[in-house]
Amino acid sequence: MKICCIGAGYVGGPTMAMIAKQCPEIPVHVVDLNQARIDAWNSDQLPIYEPGLHEVVMEARGRNLTFSTQVDAAIEEADMVFISVNTPTKTYGIGAGRAANLEFVEKCARQIARCSSGHKIVVEKSTLPVRTAQAVKRILSSEATNLTFDVLSNPEFLAEGTAVEDLLDPDRVLIGGESQQAIDALCDVYAKWIPRERILTTNLWSSELSKLTANAFLAQRVSSINAISALCEATGADVDEVARAIGTDSRIGPKFLKSSIGFGGSCFQKDILNLVYLCEHFGLPEVAAYWEQVVIMNDHQKQRFSERIVKTMFNTVSDKKIGIWGFAFKKDTNDTRESAAIYICRDLLRERARLTIYDPRVPVEQIRAELTYACTDSNGQISDADRHMIENNIEVVDDCYAAADQAHAIAVLTEWDEFKELDFQRVHDTMLRPAFLFDGRNLLDRESMESIGFEVHAIGKSSQKPRAED
Ligand code: UDX
Ligand code: ADP
Repeated sequence: MKICCIGAGYVGGPTMAMIAKQCPEIPVHVVDLNQARIDAWNSDQLPIYEPGLHEVVMEARGRNLTFSTQVDAAIEEADMVFISVNTPTKTYGIGAGRAANLEFVEKCARQIARCSSGHKIVVEKSTLPVRTAQAVKRILSSEATNLTFDVLSNPEFLAEGTAVEDLLDPDRVLIGGESQQAIDALCDVYAKWIPRERILTTNLWSSELSKLTANAFLAQRVSSINAISALCEATGADVDEVARAIGTDSRIGPKFLKSSIGFGGSCFQKDILNLVYLCEHFGLPEVAAYWEQVVIMNDHQKQRFSERIVKTMFNTVSDKKIGIWGFAFKKDTNDTRESAAIYICRDLLRERARLTIYDPRVPVEQIRAELTYACTDSNGQISDADRHMIENNIEVVDDCYAAADQAHAIAVLTEWDEFKELDFQRVHDTMLRPAFLFDGRNLLDRESMESIGFEVHAIGKSSQKPRAED
């Protein structure tokens, strides 16, 4: 058995590294068109940051794990080919802003057809709309002459920041397919380290839809608690207390009830929009509207936070310095795709604030690129005003203290652990008064921050302390 994986991104890279680590007898070849990404996988500076990933790669690389740009050769040699390329939301044409762009998946299928002979098992790892396997099968059968194949769906459920843990000890592995022989071949790979009872098998379409549904349910929980956070701010209830109170109901459970500035990441929004598009396509407008509300609420949460900052700071942040702590979409990753921080920073820049940004893992070019992208309209244009703000009103610094120095306010946008360990008296001493602290992650202990002198505004917590007579 030889494995090839097309796509060395956040999913393909770590997943294949884990398979190679756990199955030393299986050669695993990860290929990508992006030479710089492959070079990074072959170096000491891996292209993505994940706790524990370096060790996994070091153990397998050079033994049975290879990274290269030799796509054709890798496909040709493999018995099992994973497709793990990006499936971003379409930005043009039919379904723009909603449907998944399947251009890269289709190109892979055509390439597999061109370079293959004999029998191959083709595994969809990328998250795909239901019935994509049908398209992959048609391409494989129409382009290839002497190829027989089986298509499997094997969606990945790992979360960034905990990818290694999730791959090592997943709640379940899902394999959808039609051929029992092909399903068994993939089960045998995972069974090297995952108990068989945790390997679920379904038909192809259930597997494809389960991935979209799992992400939609998770995102829905975040939007639900964020909706309640607005009500908490208005009423004096505390969202963390509400989350704890409802989370102890075993039917609800405690996970994914952390109120925030809104979910980010490459999956949630994309997959829900994809689900919405599918529902519309199949003539189910009410179902589509139901799920779309999860994304609408998420956008509202981001906007609400930047508006709260402006309102609280006497209705203007123009020429005020705001220290931004964290830019990644969650802690323990350098990924900024769809990070709520992008939209909050963009809104604050459009209010002419000066931003001093610190994130332990996100480099300056990436921050500027994300903000430029967020300010670019659908025709690829960016206004002079936005460009001016991105060029002149952003400074990226090396630590939280520098971000807070002479600042009118601090906004905590990512829940990095190191933000909890600071000398807050020192932070406060260097800030202007009143020293506003906007905690978008409810990361910091409000009472101790207030005792130092910060004016704290946290998500889902009323800014005014309730008076005794209320
Ligand atoms: C998600 C799914 O969890 C994973 O199973 C799937 O394979 C890919 O999409 P990921 O996007 O990496 O993973 O991270 P996740 O931990 O799910 O967080 C997504 C976003 O929701 C982050 O911005 C996070 O900060 C936010 N979030 C999560 C909350 O705001 N509150 C929560 O309680 C949980
Ligand atoms: P994900 O988060 O789903 O892993 P990424 O964008 O991180 O997505 O990674 C997808 C990778 O797939 C990118 O590195 C991209 O260069 C690669 N890719 C896309 N199309 C092809 C293709 N036809 N052949 C090889 N690699 C591809």
